[in-house]
Amino acid sequence: MKKFFTSLCLMACVLTVSAQSIYDFKVKDDEGKDVSLADYKGKVLLIVNTATRCGFTPQYKELEALYEKYGSEGLEILDFPCNQFGQQAPGSIQEIHEFCTANFAIRFPQFDKIEVNGANESPLYTWLKAQKGFGGFDASDPRGKMMDGMLRKQDADYDKKSDIKWNFTKFLVSRDGQVLQRYEPTDKLSDIEAAIQMQVNPVMSNIMARRSVRKYLDKPVEHEKLEAVALAGINAPSAMNRQNWAVRIIENQALLADVKDMCRHAPNLICVCAPADGRFDLDAGLMGQNMMLAAQTLGLGTCIQTGPIRFLTTNEKAQAFRESLDIPEGYKLLYVISIGYPDEQPAAKPRDVSKVKYIQ
Ligand SMILES: Cc1cc2nc3c(=O)[nH]c(=O)nc-3n(C[C@H](O)[C@H](O)[C@H](O)COP(=O)(O)O)c2cc1C
Repeated sequence: MKKFFTSLCLMACVLTVSAQSIYDFKVKDDEGKDVSLADYKGKVLLIVNTATRCGFTPQYKELEALYEKYGSEGLEILDFPCNQFGQQAPGSIQEIHEFCTANFAIRFPQFDKIEVNGANESPLYTWLKAQKGFGGFDASDPRGKMMDGMLRKQDADYDKKSDIKWNFTKFLVSRDGQVLQRYEPTDKLSDIEAAIQMQVNPVMSNIMARRSVRKYLDKPVEHEKLEAVALAGINAPSAMNRQNWAVRIIENQALLADVKDMCRHAPNLICVCAPADGRFDLDAGLMGQNMMLAAQTLGLGTCIQTGPIRFLTTNEKAQAFRESLDIPEGYKLLYVISIGYPDEQPAAKPRDVSKVKYIQ
């Protein structure tokens, strides 16, 4: 029996470890039928473990409101009732479903009951917890303080573990399957709504998903895609529409070979030049961001760099490269953007929201 149990655990582990993405998992619907999460490719997902007799149960109403508002824009809420926290999700999945539709008129999919922690936990949850561990309760919220006090009494080190702490923990997943954020049950639904808005809006989600990519596949970018990126660049605003910039897109692999070591080994390089007096650096900078965001929508990765400029403008090894740029008289090479198909998925670096002040 013990052996059988061990091999079951091993199988679950292998399934979890071998799962490359959320779309590799299968779950059971409220009738016990297999559902592949691949069916949700391209959707923004909010995955939540729920309970019907919990202080947080009224969140069902808020979740349904989110679903009504953003469902048509691509949000799916995947609800997994779980009886592990205070045994607050008793009864069969049918009874739970009846309760939720009668009391909260939920329309989002409700899956079979699962366990989210421990030996019998759903492999989906093993994976989710590995993607985003516990980030703490919001200490400024009285309910956050209460949860912290209650759990610390049971286990002084509870916050060091990634397990699910209580009902209504939520994971937000992007349209391309990245786990973006884990929310504890006490986190404000308004914060979650703001994050959902960013994801369902294609421009916002593109901005949020762009990262500096520093490892590329050995595959040149198609010329048409480089043209589209360049077009996005020159459609940036410029002072009095003077367009005081010069853009050089290097496709010639022999020229790139001389400078690749300094430019992240990208299969293509965009060089942006601006007047040497620096008066139009701002315009040239704006076009760079346009190009990087356009590249992102085309499945390409980019990294803006000023580090290699000294090498590119002075080093002997870069002479042929430099001459090929045909930089206009009175212009300087301001920055380069390496561009190519990404061979890494860098995590978002933290942003400091305190840099923004609202003067009302
Ligand atoms: C003006 C400028 C110069 C940069 N120069 C370099 C560089 O020389 N090498 C590099 O690897 N990244 C460079 N970066 C990329 C930043 O390191 C990166 O944008 C920052 O760490 C934030 O990460 P993210 O772009 O992934 O959000 C530069 C960014 C800017 C805006």
